[in-house]
Amino acid sequence: MENFEISPLITETEIQKKVAELGATLSDKFKNQDDVVFICVLKGSLIFYSDLIREIELDVKCDFLGLSSYKNTGTSSGEVKLTLDLSTNVEGKEVVVVEDIVDTGLTMNYLLRMLEARRPKNITTVTLLRKPDAIKEECQIDHVGFDIPNDFVVGYGLDYGEQYRNLPFIGQVASLN
Ligand code: IMP
Repeated sequence: MENFEISPLITETEIQKKVAELGATLSDKFKNQDDVVFICVLKGSLIFYSDLIREIELDVKCDFLGLSSYKNTGTSSGEVKLTLDLSTNVEGKEVVVVEDIVDTGLTMNYLLRMLEARRPKNITTVTLLRKPDAIKEECQIDHVGFDIPNDFVVGYGLDYGEQYRNLPFIGQVASLN
């Protein structure tokens, strides 16, 4: 079995401060809108999403999408698979996509193509993390929490082989083998 060391990259306090800032920005942006649907992209954004929607001072509608792009490894398969579809119709609605991380950009573009086909009024994208040096496809990212180095990270919803999602901070993973 492989051994890993996880070194803290972004602390719990830094995350909470950033989430509050993003919440304030989005509350202001949508203050005159009625029907804003916040979409949680499972599984990675579950914790970011739960914290973010509690910072929104509006009546928020929630929906969930499941996507899988990494087959339990640290490298991208380049393939995106829909594992759970939305339960509501977003046609004509103001939609906010909440992602955990944009790495190559392939998942975000897949997601945007899929949502655009459903004719929402508008799509806003929010990601907690972005790796500028890993981007392979330019994609629409409207709000970013943190730009990080091109290293594999875990915690605060992000996993490595389904492990470490429940760490309260974001850490870089290094193999000790
Ligand atoms: P992309 O399609 O390469 O942009 O990857 C997006 C998805 O890959 C994210 O939603 C994550 O689920 C996963 N991912 C990318 N980088 C990391 C990482 O450093 N840690 C954990 N998951 C990651």
